[in-house]
Amino acid sequence: MSDTPWSDVDRYLSDTFLTPDPTLDQALADAEAAGMPAIAVSPPQGKLLFVLAHALRARRILELGTLAGYSGIWMARALPSDGRLVTLEVNPKHADVARKNFARAGVLDRVDIIVGPAREALNEMIQTGAAPFDLIFIDADKVSYPDYFRAVLELSRAGTLIIADNVIRKGLVADPGTVDENALAIRRFNDVVAAEGRVTATAIQTVGSKGYDGFTAITVLTS
Ligand code: SAH
Ligand code: DHB
Ligand code: MG
Repeated sequence: MSDTPWSDVDRYLSDTFLTPDPTLDQALADAEAAGMPAIAVSPPQGKLLFVLAHALRARRILELGTLAGYSGIWMARALPSDGRLVTLEVNPKHADVARKNFARAGVLDRVDIIVGPAREALNEMIQTGAAPFDLIFIDADKVSYPDYFRAVLELSRAGTLIIADNVIRKGLVADPGTVDENALAIRRFNDVVAAEGRVTATAIQTVGSKGYDGFTAITVLTS
């Protein structure tokens, strides 16, 4: 066992609840081979996204921050064959790796990868009156989370579930002395969410192979 048992326990949870999955393993291996950061959600977290999408009977899912498509594959697999995952990625190299990973996973026909700054794609969808999403996963640049929340609220309906990743940042989010710009932005994000009367929310701390972090979970009351 290492310093903390978190990674060992994540392996135990994966062995218990997840089916061995060469496609997902290959997605992570290709990301590493392409020199991409190893910051995808963990396997149990990916399965949680699947469980939530399935429980919601989600037909339209929006993701901010595709990376290599790891979390996206989990969510796309929960969609019916005519469902859509729209996933936003600023880095064309990441999008290229993700496209191959979605294809190998057999879900590319359900996925739209929009390459460019997420805010531009969100503006475009708002302006063109895109149909509301059932599930929204915010996982792109942390400094923009407050702004992303305001935008995705315009793409929601009553009952939409919004999940934001990386909202605890090793506890820095609650450290009054922190100067970490990501942690400060996440604190602003949580404040904006808490003050928004059209939603109600909570946040949960997590440990695991990705260390100590957490999710904010938001449900839209009225759009
Ligand atoms: N959701 C992925 C991990 C995303 S990592 C998974 O769990 O598998 C964050 C991603 O957000 C990176 O690929 C990064 O390039 C992308 N990103 C950063 N800033 C962005 C922006 N302004 N618009 C869209 N994507 C952005
Ligand atoms: C970082 C980004 C993530 O989306 C994540 O899950 C972990 C770390 C980062 O930018 O450091
Ligand atoms: Mg993340």
